Formats: sequence, structure tokens, C-alpha cells
Amino acid sequence: MTKVRILSYRLRALDSLRGIGRVMDRSTCGDQKGAVISMTKVNLNINGATHSIDVPDTGMPLLWAIRDYAGLTGTKYGCGVEICGACTVWIDGSPEKSCDTSVSEGVGRAITTIEGLSATTAGAKLQQAFVDHQVPQCGYCQSGMLMAATRLVQSGSVPSDAQIDSAIGNICVCGTYPRVKAAIKAASGGTTPIPTTTTTRPTTTTTTRPTTTTTKPPKPTTTTTTKPPKPTTTTTRPRKPVTTTTRPRKPVTTTTIKIKGDD
Ligand code: FES
Ligand code: FES
Repeated sequence: MTKVRILSYRLRALDSLRGIGRVMDRSTCGDQKGAVISMTKVNLNINGATHSIDVPDTGMPLLWAIRDYAGLTGTKYGCGVEICGACTVWIDGSPEKSCDTSVSEGVGRAITTIEGLSATTAGAKLQQAFVDHQVPQCGYCQSGMLMAATRLVQSGSVPSDAQIDSAIGNICVCGTYPRVKAAIKAASGGTTPIPTTTTTRPTTTTTTRPTTTTTKPPKPTTTTTTKPPKPTTTTTRPRKPVTTTTRPRKPVTTTTIKIKGDD
């Protein structure tokens, strides 16, 4: 029954992502059709403190109550289907996926979130080892990773790679697994070398720049060479001989016209 309820909450979460759902009020809340439903008061023991919160349904995921009602947002929502481990918290000291645990299952039990991890010796040690090994990249998976890994550190022996792999199934899309392993081993008292990033900076030697005053050689004085004048060559073109062709005159033919009566 609890699983069915949690599934319905997942669907509701998907709806709200699509903008269909409505933002719920803390004292009363409406379902998607606007009906008002009553809230139930529950007491959750989180990190040693009692959180008295009003929830619309005790079957909703504990993750919702921790983040949205108790206001402890260090625990992350990743897959929502018990795969990624981003939502890992401790319930009575054992790592659990809070996306798949109902609020009613958390009532009356000791819940520890990432905000309370440093209060434990192993948790504080591992957090410091994560810092020393520069484990986090984007950081989104890290709180769940720390909650799961601290249990290994608490076991008191240095775990092997295979033991770490089988104990921690948390997903880190940034691929920090090799550093996570190194940090777990270091926090467990292993000899995994912590990358010593103590690079001593060379003492800055103040090199005084040599004052080189390079005197530019004087520019050669430009001697103005006067070009010799171009010889003026006046070529007188020979004149074309004027050929005057006198056309022979046509002989004048005189025709004498005899006029009657002139005899
Ligand atoms: S959000 Fe719970 S396992 Fe991924
Ligand atoms: S550090 Fe980015 S997901 Fe793990």
C-alpha cells in the first residue's frame, strides 16, 4: 500500500513539473481539482531534534517531508525510484533511500541527514577526507554518497575496492568514484596517498630589468640628387611632299549647230 502511495506521489511530482499541479499550503492543501484536504501532524526526529510538521499524507515520501516541511535541503532528489542514492539518509543508523520511504515509516525513528553527519566521528572524518581528496565536482550526489560511505568507515577496517563497490551503489554522473574510494580508505585509516598539493611556490626573485639605452644611429642625411634635365629632342617630322596632281582637262568639244537661214 505504501509503495502505491509513493508511486502516486511520484506521478504528482511529475505533474507539478509539467505545471499541472498546484503549490500546496502548509496548513491545508488542495488537490488538482481544488478540493481541500486536511493535514496530519507528525513528529519526526531528525538529527536529534523533533520536527513537528503538518503533512497532507503520511504515505508521502520521507524525502518530501525532510526537504519541504523540515526545510533540510541537503538531501537531494535524483531519480525518485531508488536507484541513484542522492536521497540517502540514515534511519536508525542504517542508510535508506528517503524517496522510497514513507513519512509514516520515519515516525518514531532516528533520522540522520547530511546536516547531522558531522556530529558523528566517522562522518566528520570522511567529510574532511572528501575535502582533502577534492572529491566533489558538481556536488549533487555528494550528500547521499557521504551518508552511504560513512557506514563503511564506521566498520573500522579499511575496505577494499570490491567492498566499496558492493556497499555503495550511489550514482555520480561526474565520475568521482576513484576519489570517493581513496577518501573512504583514507578516512578508514588506510594508506591511500592523499595527493599532496603542497607545491612550494618559488621565492619571487626580483629581476631588475637592465636599462639598455640603445641610441639609435642617426639617420643618414638625404642628399638631394638633382636629376639631370631630360634632353629636349625636337624631332621635326619631315613634311609630306605635296603632290599636286593636275588632272588633264577634258578637251572641249565644240559642236557647231547650224541654224537654218544662217547661210
Ligand atoms: S532520488 Fe532516491 S534513489 Fe534517487
Ligand atoms: S559530483 Fe556531480 S554527480 Fe557526483
